[in-house]
Amino acid sequence: MEKPNYGGVGLHVFINLTLGVILLVVGLVGTMALYPLLLLLILPSPYFVFMGVRWMGGGVLEDRLRIRDEFMKLIRPEDGNRVLDVGTGGGFLAIGFAKAIRNSEIVGIDVWMRLGGGTGLENAVRNTEIEGVAGKVRFEECDARDISYPNDYFDIVVASFAIYTIRREREKVFLEMVRVLKPGGKFAIMEPWRSWELGWVVDERFKRKLEEIGLGDVKFQSILLTYPRKRYVCIVYGEKRPQQP
Ligand SMILES: C[S@@+](CC[C@H](N)C(=O)[O-])C[C@H]1O[C@@H](n2cnc3c(N)ncnc32)[C@H](O)[C@@H]1O
Repeated sequence: MEKPNYGGVGLHVFINLTLGVILLVVGLVGTMALYPLLLLLILPSPYFVFMGVRWMGGGVLEDRLRIRDEFMKLIRPEDGNRVLDVGTGGGFLAIGFAKAIRNSEIVGIDVWMRLGGGTGLENAVRNTEIEGVAGKVRFEECDARDISYPNDYFDIVVASFAIYTIRREREKVFLEMVRVLKPGGKFAIMEPWRSWELGWVVDERFKRKLEEIGLGDVKFQSILLTYPRKRYVCIVYGEKRPQQP
């Protein structure tokens, strides 16, 4: 049976296996030809080969589908809700909502930058067919910093592993997500706790920033991913505060 493609695995396999082999070869050749201490380069090589093989294994998709279920349980969407998935990629969350609720308007937006680890629009549409929700999600090419929907439109605005990858004008993404959310509507993002390379940290300061732009009672919840290695990611959620008269 065909499985949905939520992207990224091939690149991880390639990077890890290539690094493993390069370290092994440079370590061996360097030791013989240049300097004995270069043998130390061999030490991390098995780790990268192991990670490459783990990424190849079938568990990654199952793990992702499990955390999607956990995400849904936390958000508790209702039939008829309008839902926006920002940086939807292969439609990961949007499709989860389409499976969970009926008579809903579900939109997935993305710029589909393949180098950003995402997958193309055609793949997202194909995933709706594989997951049995063809025609229930509308995918649109749209930048998260300029969302093409009116104020207070959606009941739920979500994102997974997308916002932390947007480095430039990230603040705008949050402003836009909150702008298109109805007062009382649910905001939830599933992202790493931190990524130093991308200047991303989920902490009290981050929480205060979200509260300043209109979310009330922002909470964090840790969630365990087991593939390709055990690591915790974070769900950040809150509701948009009712507007002042
Ligand atoms: C790591 S992928 C995650 C995809 C999907 N949410 C998932 O969980 O499988 C990050 C996604 O964010 C998208 N993205 C990056 N910058 C964006 C932007 N400015 N506006 C909309 N989407 C963006 C990328 O194209 C990519 O599809």
